[in-house]
Amino acid sequence: MKSLSALPPAQLRKILGHSSRLPLATKNYPSRGQTAVQTLYQTAYGKVFLKHVSRQNHLDCQINPTHGSLAEREFWAYRLAVQMGLPVPELILLDNATTLQRWLDLPDARTYATNQGILTLEGNNVFDCALFDWFSGQIDRHDANYLYDYARQKIILIDSAHCFLPYTGSIPDYLKYFEIGFASQLIRKRSTPISRKLRHLPPALVRSLVPLRDAASIEALLARLDQMKQVTTIGDIIRLYRGHHDNSPIG
Ligand SMILES: Nc1ncnc2c1ncn2[C@@H]1O[C@H](COP(=O)(O)OP(=O)(O)O)[C@@H](O)[C@H]1O
Ligand SMILES: [Mg+2]
Repeated sequence: MKSLSALPPAQLRKILGHSSRLPLATKNYPSRGQTAVQTLYQTAYGKVFLKHVSRQNHLDCQINPTHGSLAEREFWAYRLAVQMGLPVPELILLDNATTLQRWLDLPDARTYATNQGILTLEGNNVFDCALFDWFSGQIDRHDANYLYDYARQKIILIDSAHCFLPYTGSIPDYLKYFEIGFASQLIRKRSTPISRKLRHLPPALVRSLVPLRDAASIEALLARLDQMKQVTTIGDIIRLYRGHHDNSPIG
């Protein structure tokens, strides 16, 4: 599959102009077509998904776009994921309000659980995604914001736009799933290529990949990077989400 990132935004827009539009499901996706434009295209480069966020989107989500728009946040999160080695769909920032990403023919977890059944989760994959979500300050990881690769039994994070934000009390959907279905694995010590990479991520590189325009968010991001160095189990990450920073048992 040809890489999209190699093409300049002007050429990508031209390709979209010559491509056919595919129908997009609207059930379960309340934001679709209301305050943001979302279009799925069949191009010579495969299926691509365009999202254009509006001013109303930022107002609804109480996000100040001057610090980083939703589209920019999604792009910065993508760059961080790539740097960590986390497999995510290729994504390009066309302008400050518009992203274009590769569409994967996989269901999101909501669709899979509704139509097929229970997801089987793989511990190290969940660990890697949870490290990324905590580190990137993701506050919107509900079940339609990750895909389920049912053949490999792995989850793939998408729509990471609500990131680098102060924690609001939500916990990623897949962590709740894992805690119930795979309780015996919560205290298993894990060391993955991604967790080792994260441990050695230089703060200067993080700053350049995630050029947030307010000092408090940058400081919070680097503080979470430090926290990640203490994490060895999925239970540790759940404790961080619950605000327990000691070694007390989960729950
Ligand atoms: N790269 C992708 N590959 C496959 N499906 C996707 C992809 N990106 C989004 N989707 C599907 O489209 C839905 C809406 O996209 P999303 O990026 O979450 O936007 P929003 O939540 O703002 O509507 C997702 O819940 C998922 O079902
Ligand atoms: Mg979404």
